[in-house]
Amino acid sequence: MTDNDTYDLSWDEWDELVRPTEEETEFDRVVASGLSRRGFLSGLVAFGSGAAVMGLGTGASLLNSTAVQAAGRFGFTPVGVATDATVHVPEGYTWDILVKWGDKLFSDAADFDHATGGDVASSDRVFGENTDGMELFAIGDKQIIAVNSEYVNPKLNLPQNEDGKPTSADDVLKLQNLQGVTVMEVAEEGGDWHVVVDSPFNRRITHNTPMKISGPAAGHDLLKTDADPSGTESLGTYNNCGAGKTPWGTYLTCEENFNGYFGSTDADLELPADFKRYGIGVESRYDYEKFDARFDISKNINEPRRAGYIVEIDPANPDATPVKRTALGRFKHENAACTVARDGRVIVYMGDDERGEFLYKFVSKGVYVPGASTDGLLDEGTLYVAKFSDDGNGEWLALTEETTGMSQAEICIYSRLAASKVGATTMDRPEWVAVNPVAVEAYCALTNNKNRGVKTNAGGDETPVGGPNPREKNNYGQIVRWYPENDDHVSSSFKWDLFVMAGNPDVHGDSPYAGSSNINSGNMFNSPDGMMFDTSGLLWIQTDGDYKNEGDFAGMGNNQMLVGDPATGQIERFMTVPYGAEVTGITWSADKRTLFVGIQHPAAPFPDGEGKLARSCVVAVKRSDNAMIG
Ligand code: FEO
Ligand code: CA
Ligand code: CA
Repeated sequence: MTDNDTYDLSWDEWDELVRPTEEETEFDRVVASGLSRRGFLSGLVAFGSGAAVMGLGTGASLLNSTAVQAAGRFGFTPVGVATDATVHVPEGYTWDILVKWGDKLFSDAADFDHATGGDVASSDRVFGENTDGMELFAIGDKQIIAVNSEYVNPKLNLPQNEDGKPTSADDVLKLQNLQGVTVMEVAEEGGDWHVVVDSPFNRRITHNTPMKISGPAAGHDLLKTDADPSGTESLGTYNNCGAGKTPWGTYLTCEENFNGYFGSTDADLELPADFKRYGIGVESRYDYEKFDARFDISKNINEPRRAGYIVEIDPANPDATPVKRTALGRFKHENAACTVARDGRVIVYMGDDERGEFLYKFVSKGVYVPGASTDGLLDEGTLYVAKFSDDGNGEWLALTEETTGMSQAEICIYSRLAASKVGATTMDRPEWVAVNPVAVEAYCALTNNKNRGVKTNAGGDETPVGGPNPREKNNYGQIVRWYPENDDHVSSSFKWDLFVMAGNPDVHGDSPYAGSSNINSGNMFNSPDGMMFDTSGLLWIQTDGDYKNEGDFAGMGNNQMLVGDPATGQIERFMTVPYGAEVTGITWSADKRTLFVGIQHPAAPFPDGEGKLARSCVVAVKRSDNAMIG
């Protein structure tokens, strides 16, 4: 049975508590060998394509120069760290709330009630909880935002229940309805943004919305259930974390920690081997299985195998059935960064956010032709997984029947197992991937990994210190960047370097934990997570880290959003959010004069004040002179 104190844990902390990986003492040898320090000092921290390798500095060396340059290409004066309960943006910028958890999408929903967290009847008629990845779509003269609601905070959503514990099917339904995806029309009047209540575009997609399953795994026996003997029609999308936008204007929502929604009413149930790799066990996070048999793996062993995918949603058509694209693999999907290669093939870069899991790339078989049918583009293609060498080279390993000994459907359902078979590089929790629109390069935030060099991953793959994961017990994170061979995202080889290694030069002096030389006392952060390029090629970086502002994290303050310049390595802080909150999700208005930013799970009484429930929200940031932002 779930101990409700675990509601306060992050998903990775919960996974580690409920289904810990085993200690792996043999890595002491690896750490003791000094591999980490050699890897760190081998010149793989660089700034800009073709730029001179700058190597590791003390971190403090750029402090003065960056302070002088700060307003340059970025166009703002950086903000300081914050530890308070509100949002800060640079001087000359303003912020306002666009939408909060519980705000009406439809006028027939009840007003939000801080005593109850809203009623169950309205729970799929309002903006969802824990906002995450989002994209804005300009459809005709309308602006539509599709935005994820990743998970719930039951103590807030069911405040009348002891510890937020669900006690009925209605309680579970309310939690299910507050997650998934919101599609909503937004509009600006007199400089203020609002949701267009009752817009025909408005839609909620929840844990119970009908989905189609497509691609190589569709119809496979492993996806069949009593309710769906075809294995092609499932219900619900889960733990929708980051997102993506296809070149043809659809939304990709990414199922991350789906494992936590499934449990067993039979505590002695024998679990299949693949469940261990994906962290699926008898204990669930929210007790769904006690009130909704679909989530009881003792009754529906295949239901979790219908989760962990990327789902395509058409924001222009509220009646369109979302489609689970199995060709993009099954793992803890963080986001989906799409681009089109020179020959028209569609590329989707994807991270699997768990300690020691992998970085993936999908290459479509067909080519994208604007205006032509896009059917099958995300259903047929090749899934690759990244292998990094310590010398700055890397390759994409194809997951095929020949390389894995698995069928195409099995590769899509058991992607982690396939990637392990080909010897992919175990990474420090790959979070968002971002593709630079003005250079042929892509970036992945490796948020942190306290088990680097300490434990294997869930599949038993080693996590040696080195390459793009150069620090044991990595509690700060880094951003890796790769340059495809021949400037072609289809290429199976690449060069890589680290754009930044987060760290604390004030605490750690010259050690690797001070971070790379583009980190200084004025821009320190930890745990990079959300990332998105603007149209000018600047990289916006959002953090989901330790905000206690003490010890290793002293001087970093609350979570924040920074801007990085790929050409120079300069990084400056643009925004801070209330304590406890993570910054996640970023998109722009059609005219680029407004920046929308997600604020998830504030611990501070934000934004409604003391005595009220804290509510995740999306804020709209503008310049006072209404100039473009990115
Ligand atoms: Fe939902 Fe890995 O962040
Ligand atoms: Ca994230
Ligand atoms: Ca995170």
